[in-house]
Amino acid sequence: MYTPNEKRYDAMLYRHAGVSGLRLPALSLGLWQNFGRTGNFETMEAMVHTAFDLGITHFDLANNYGDPYPGSAEENFGRILRGMPGLRDELCVTTKAGYGMWPGPYGDRNGSRKYLTASLDQSLKRLGLDYVDIYYHHIFDPNTPLEETALALDNAVRRGKALYVGVSNYNAAQTAQIAAIFRELHTPFILNQPSYNLLDRHIETDGLDKLCLENGTGIAVFCPLAQGLLTGKYLNGIPDGSRAQTRQGLASRLDEKMLSKLRALRDIAEARGQTMPQMALSWVLRNPAVTTVLIGASRPAQIAENVKCLDNLSFSPQELERIDAIVNA
Ligand SMILES: NC(=O)c1ccc[n+]([C@@H]2O[C@H](COP(=O)([O-])OP(=O)(O)OC[C@H]3O[C@@H](n4cnc5c(N)ncnc54)[C@H](OP(=O)(O)O)[C@@H]3O)[C@@H](O)[C@H]2O)c1
Repeated sequence: MYTPNEKRYDAMLYRHAGVSGLRLPALSLGLWQNFGRTGNFETMEAMVHTAFDLGITHFDLANNYGDPYPGSAEENFGRILRGMPGLRDELCVTTKAGYGMWPGPYGDRNGSRKYLTASLDQSLKRLGLDYVDIYYHHIFDPNTPLEETALALDNAVRRGKALYVGVSNYNAAQTAQIAAIFRELHTPFILNQPSYNLLDRHIETDGLDKLCLENGTGIAVFCPLAQGLLTGKYLNGIPDGSRAQTRQGLASRLDEKMLSKLRALRDIAEARGQTMPQMALSWVLRNPAVTTVLIGASRPAQIAENVKCLDNLSFSPQELERIDAIVNA
């Protein structure tokens, strides 16, 4: 029987999701990888327990997460939650729909009311929950009127199946459009979920981060470690059991130019007294628009290491300049 760490709230930093009353931990755990049926259940459970013991109260899922079949991550997380009785009100659980999930026109990649409504009911069943804390539209759909997508999310809240809503993979212009509709509907739209890391700064160039700050919406960042590239684990080849072993797209980014950037970033991290993943997470968290970073992990020790980024969240102007010069070289 799991007994949570009594000191779990002592060291974590909690920040408001935009101007909402909801506070999220600076680090959250994402269950995209390593939580499907192909994984080891004991390791998954240990990762969730380690995270919660360190004050990570926010767990990020989606209908399609999990291998070998989509939805298996929600099933496994539901099973883990059943072993954590009495803790539901200490947890923030999110899910999403938008990418293809089931055959036919109502479960393929879209943003219709039909899909978003049915998918949330399916997710709740897999999770064994009455409601999720945040329900996201996972990716902008140019073929569905935004009013329809917004109304479907709004309706999830009014049906009591979600407390808040968010959007993911929406650019600044798309976000501005749907935010205007949510304002009219008085929908609790509190989070945007884009990718963002030292090597991917599109939210800065697109202006999404500024827009979210102006609108009072928080940002939950995905892939803050560029799927592991920014951890330094690939500096001497691709280790056994690492993500790049199974994801060709990730492995193909590891050319000599990338490796020399990563080595230079590692040197800066060391000078700051941090490991590479810690510096990469601190760098994302330095952006005032960011509420939380969604970290992925394949073992509990990675979570414990990454949480220590909180020990050094500030950067000198010289460090930031040096980092920019390395990344833009
Ligand atoms: N909305 C969206 O479209 C979307 C898309 C992608 C992700 N997400 C969300 O974002 C979450 C995080 O994405 P991500 O998993 O790609 O994030 P990430 O934090 O960029 O990468 C996580 C991976 O980095 C490696 N790692 C982490 N800490 C490490 C450490 N201390 N030392 C060595 N290696 C370390 C692990 O890879 P190994 O497996 O190699 O050990 C881990 O699986 C997802 O779970 C999901 O919730 C959302």
